[in-house]
This record gives sequence, C-alpha cells and structure tokens, in this order.
Amino acid sequence: MLPTIAREDDVVVMIDQRKLPAQEVYVRCKSASDVARAIRTMVIRGAPAIGVAAAMGLALGMRKSSATGTQKFAAEFQKSCDLMAATRPTAVNLFWAIERMKRCFAEAAQAGQSVDQIKDRLDREAQLIHDEDVQSCRAMGAYGAEVVPADARVLTHCNAGALATAGYGTALGVIRGAVEQGKRVMVFADETRPFLQGARLTAWELVRDGIPTTVITDNMTAALMRKMPIDLVVVGADRIAANGDTANKIGTYGVAVLAREHKVPFYVAAPLSTIDMNTPDGDHIPIEERNAREVSHVGSSQLAPEGASIWNPAFDVTPHEYIAGIITERGIYRAPYIESLKAAFANPGH
Ligand code: MRU
Repeated sequence: MLPTIAREDDVVVMIDQRKLPAQEVYVRCKSASDVARAIRTMVIRGAPAIGVAAAMGLALGMRKSSATGTQKFAAEFQKSCDLMAATRPTAVNLFWAIERMKRCFAEAAQAGQSVDQIKDRLDREAQLIHDEDVQSCRAMGAYGAEVVPADARVLTHCNAGALATAGYGTALGVIRGAVEQGKRVMVFADETRPFLQGARLTAWELVRDGIPTTVITDNMTAALMRKMPIDLVVVGADRIAANGDTANKIGTYGVAVLAREHKVPFYVAAPLSTIDMNTPDGDHIPIEERNAREVSHVGSSQLAPEGASIWNPAFDVTPHEYIAGIITERGIYRAPYIESLKAAFANPGH
C-alpha cells in the first residue's frame, strides 16, 4: 500500500505530493511546526490525510517537549493545537483530529498521568487515528462497491485516494473495492485545475494499481458524458454539513450538475469524521482561498498577464439534492440526509 504518512521515532515522514508523479521524494518533519508547514504548503493534502498529519504532528511535537511539569506541557500542547488549526480551514477532519487529541490529553491529565505517560498516550492516539482511517477506507470500499456495476465507467474529481488518506482512499477506495470484487472498472480522472490532483495523483495511483485510467481536462466532462455512458461519479469530501451539502475540491459542483443533466448517479465517499453536524448547511462551510499564483502559473510558466485579478477558491459546495448517496464506513446514507446523518451519529452501531 502507498506510504502516505508514517511516524518514525523522532520524525513524521510523508511523501511529497507536490512533486508527484515526476519525483518520489519524502519529507521528514522534525517538529509540530514542520508538520503544520507541510499541511499548509500541500506536501500532504486530502481531508483524512490532513487530520492524520495533524494528530501525528501534535504527538511528535509533545514527544520532543522538554517540559517537566504538566502545566507547561499543557500550555505547549495548546499552542501546537492552535498552530495546526490555522493551517487549512475547510477540511473538518483537521479539527476533528485536533479535538480527539485534546480529549486524549485531557483524559490522561485528569487521571493524574505524568508528562511521559501523556506523551505515550498521544503517540498511541495518533497511530490509532491513522490505523482507523485505513480501516474506514476499506469498509467504505466494500459498501461503495455495491453501487458499481460489473462493467463500469466511473468518473472522479481531484484525488480522494490513498494519498489523501492514511491509505486505500475514499472515492478511490470505492473503485478499489469494486475491482477487488472482480468488477471491471474504467476510471475517468478530471485533471482538477489548478493544483492538478487528478492528473498528477489520481492517475499515478490508479496506473500503479493497473486500473485503466483516462485523464481528461475539467472542461471535457460534459462532452464525455454526452458521448459515452458513464455509470457513476464518485468523489471525496472535505466537509459534509448536517443537511448533506458537501464541500469538495473546486469543480465538484460543476461535475454534479452535469451528472444530473446526464442522469448519472453522483456519490460522495467520506468517513464519518468528514461529517460536521455542527455546520447546518453548505453556506456555513468556510471555503479556503489560495494563492493567485496557482491559477496564474503552471509550475514556473506564467499563463495569465500581470495585472489580471485572480480568484482561487480551493473548494465548492455541492447541494445535497445532487447527491445520490453518501458512502461511509458504516454504510450508504441516502436522502433526506438531515435525518439519515442525524441517525448515523445518534446510533453509533447503525
Ligand atoms: O486541496 P486538497 O488537495 O486538500 O483537496 C482535496 C479534496 O478536495 C479531496 O477530494 C477531499 O479532501 C477528499 S480526500 C479523501
């Protein structure tokens, strides 16, 4: 399986996703602030992977703390949490992971554990978040495979694969799950301007797995859907509001509109940690705006002239009525999402 992120004794190692597919190089983060920088600069990206990175970064930072008393140690921990929380605003998995690490810290401190014992607890919790993410992706893959026909053409947007998670992937997990069940899947990967996660990362992962993959530019989706039958669209998510509205990579909403026009079912695959029941609807999801240079340039080549204003929102929101189902590690939730998602959280065994 792809090594997206791993903890070694005194470093967090991650594959540099900015360099793929041309170069396979690894970044070794030696501190919490190194990890925060890696998240901010997209060395690692994708909602679940960002959450895992934050948890591992917090555990690493505290492991390296020289504080001997719990009070100073707690103050340093809070500072690191704030640093992580300021990296990227949209993917709720980041905040979910930070909250989980905070709970773990508080429980250990309340139980009167020493600084060294708390360090061990944080290490274990971060690894657990990592391992659970892989398990969730595999479960999502098995549930999601049900909606993939035996001979399928599937379109995806951005990269919701092993690289965007601790491993296996959400949307690509569904594709992998279907392939593991013996289904024949052809994938169409939108290139995903401006960061090109589809062309660079999704295609790289799928080609490595031997899954037939065709890369298209984002403006070819309508023509593709008109020209040949596409069986389904499956994408990941950065934050799903309580009513099912889903923030995902910019361009996802356009794909959903086209899917509806061409009667192609549009699925979202995401772990429960991506569902934010405290955000009522898509209008309340904070959307990150990134550097203009990502749009004005490709690599070092300038495309747009100096003086042109640039708008670069990293995500858009697909309204819930476009979504045929939300594939999670507990099964597929259907409309009305306001009820089905509420039930998912009210009944953890559901
Ligand atoms: O800006 P990115 O690359 O972090 O955006 C990633 C996406 O939008 C993914 O589709 C989403 O995080 C789901 S990843 C399983």
